Amino acid sequence: MVDTSDEWIVTRTGIRERHIASADMSCGDMAAEASRRAIDMAGCSNEDIDLIICGTISADYRLPSNACVLQEKMGFPNAAAFDVASACTGFLNALSIANAYIAIGQHQRALVIGAEKLSSMTNYKDRNTCVLFGDAAGAVVVEACDDGRGVLSSYLQSDGNLRPWLWIETGGSRNPYLPGFSFDSSDKIQMNGSDIFKVAVRNMEAAAIKVIENAGLTVDDIALCVPHQANIRIIDAVTKRLGLPPEKVFINIEKYGNTSSASVPLALDEANREGRIKSGDNVVMVAFGGGLIWGATVVKW
Ligand code: ACO
Repeated sequence: MVDTSDEWIVTRTGIRERHIASADMSCGDMAAEASRRAIDMAGCSNEDIDLIICGTISADYRLPSNACVLQEKMGFPNAAAFDVASACTGFLNALSIANAYIAIGQHQRALVIGAEKLSSMTNYKDRNTCVLFGDAAGAVVVEACDDGRGVLSSYLQSDGNLRPWLWIETGGSRNPYLPGFSFDSSDKIQMNGSDIFKVAVRNMEAAAIKVIENAGLTVDDIALCVPHQANIRIIDAVTKRLGLPPEKVFINIEKYGNTSSASVPLALDEANREGRIKSGDNVVMVAFGGGLIWGATVVKW
């Protein structure tokens, strides 16, 4: 499709494979599948879920939210449902909101999802972006416990001034699709990757340090880091600056590419199912994406 090579993609990004959803599989369909598996693993029922937060920038519809679409698909009779649009930080943002709502007793059990059908908003004529993005969904169930496990600290920050570095120009209320609109590039993701790269490394490192310190921990107390999977060179640079050895960093970018808000829960689930996380382990998750927005969370598993 574009002038590129496997060698360029693998060495510059670490990506070997990506998954593209079929035309009849929506973002909500993937979110539903991930949610079923998370609820099954948690051993609870749909009735037990009283909050659904979906991190996504590629919801099935502009209205309503993907979380409400999920509710329609799966039936959560007791839940409030809404989306968080924070690109690659969407899952961490959603998790942080769920944690706060549970902490104040407003909700008891939350389904937190990161789901994206980025192929629907990728320009397959743009080699700067089309080799990077994939489709995926991941989900977790979060509930209160009183044994010291759970979210220990979270940190979120954004800089809206850098909005033009990563955006979709048209299709919103400022630049709506009018008759005769040409669906070529302005309706797809546009990204200034190399500038984002530098800001991402600096801010992911700073966010991880902040949450580790705020949790009263040191880097040595971290059993596993689950970073957003945007670029292997970003992950390597951030974790090297943090002083985390490779065996404490979970990487699956080679199989999925950048799946935006699905990336962290997808990696977290794989790490868990592979036995990389034990009960009581401190896990730091860190992400960076369009907004620009970045953040980190430490969880005692
Ligand atoms: N194949 C071959 N050459 C390419 C390709 C490609 N697929 N893409 C870019 N190039 C070329 C460029 O045109 C450029 O050529 P030039 O020097 O002749 O102009 C050269 O490679 C270098 O381009 P850079 O953009 O400097 O490449 P870089 O090493 O920075 O890698 C990348 C680009 C992979 C995008 C990297 O910058 C990156 O990962 N950035 C961070 C992206 C990110 O984290 N985004 C936030 C999350 S995404 C979200 O929120 C939805």
